[in-house]
Amino acid sequence: MGQMSARVLALAGLLAFLAPAFKAQSAKNIDMQPFGKTPDGHEVSLYTLKNQSGAEVKIINYGGTITSIKVKDRHGKFDDVVLGFDNLDGYVSKTNKSYFGALIGRYANRIAHGTFVLDGHQYHIPINDGSNALHGGLRGFDKVVWDAKDVSTARAPELELHYLSRDGEEGFPGNLSVTVRYSLTGQNDLRIDYSATTDKDTVLNLTNHSYFNLAGPGSGDILKHKLTLAADRFTPINSALTPTGAIESVAGTPLDFRKPTAIGARINQDDPQLKFAKGYDHNFVLNHSGEGPGLAATVEEPHSGRVLEVFTTQPGIQIYSGNFLNGSVRGIGGVYKFRSALCLETQHFPDSPNHPNFPSVVLRPGEQFHQTTIFRFSTE
Ligand code: GLA
Repeated sequence: MGQMSARVLALAGLLAFLAPAFKAQSAKNIDMQPFGKTPDGHEVSLYTLKNQSGAEVKIINYGGTITSIKVKDRHGKFDDVVLGFDNLDGYVSKTNKSYFGALIGRYANRIAHGTFVLDGHQYHIPINDGSNALHGGLRGFDKVVWDAKDVSTARAPELELHYLSRDGEEGFPGNLSVTVRYSLTGQNDLRIDYSATTDKDTVLNLTNHSYFNLAGPGSGDILKHKLTLAADRFTPINSALTPTGAIESVAGTPLDFRKPTAIGARINQDDPQLKFAKGYDHNFVLNHSGEGPGLAATVEEPHSGRVLEVFTTQPGIQIYSGNFLNGSVRGIGGVYKFRSALCLETQHFPDSPNHPNFPSVVLRPGEQFHQTTIFRFSTE
């Protein structure tokens, strides 16, 4: 046999060996199940993404919401590490004001007094949080049904969600076409890629609002979770929980998480920032350069040994210690009590449209919006 045909045979052998592995993965990439109907009659589906090591992420196309993330602890036991409901009613219920697991837009976080000026025109977003517009108004991206498509590759199950937010929806200008891709890699990275285009100048801030408790369902508060943030600075808030506009050093404050520190270590200190928010509910200014996703946060849960690392291209992260959870909502794992979960909302800074010194959130026609956030799960 010539050298050439030997090579061809070897290559064919290798392909035959690899093919079943690729096939097995792509054949059952994403499982889809019905998840009920919205009050206005839209069918909602539940999509399950699973990787080789058995980690599993469930997403519904109502709000593009993550309903469950199951990952191993240090002994190999799988548990759900996010708060959520096993039925659609929990998500559409008017008593659910917590945005559990949802995609947030068109403007994540607060816009003071629900108003801003863009290109000399004043816009008004419905007020839904004291004097502010929070998380996109009355019917934000968390309350709409997204189109969903399985776009899995041989490497990972991937779910693509699309939503067209019409010009004037919730008061925002421009038809905005938004695509969000969720993928779950073999390394237990839950990757979220956000992209968008507009036909008029608009403002845009997108995030995911998952509530993490790495100890698993019904395990109490998150005060023993250790948090490290790659953030030397934060944006202080006023009593309305909107930024004052200042950017300050965390040094010497209870917001200094540059070294691993338990969330509960200083949360009850007599500090005005903590008093305003009843705990942590602050935007941290990330140190990374902005080129590619940089490490933003690490969370370690000592009992289970689970570790969550958050990487992002975004300039900020909102750390919210579940201070508005008060036991009035029952979800998977029981009643959701005060500080029973932690949100790590990668984002542009709150109320940026009213603070020219913050990084710009303006998207113009012809521009492509792109942000990526990765939630990486491991154990120690
Ligand atoms: C964000 C806000 C919090 C709270 C939650 C939703 O994290 O910063 O103040 O409103 O959303 O309950």
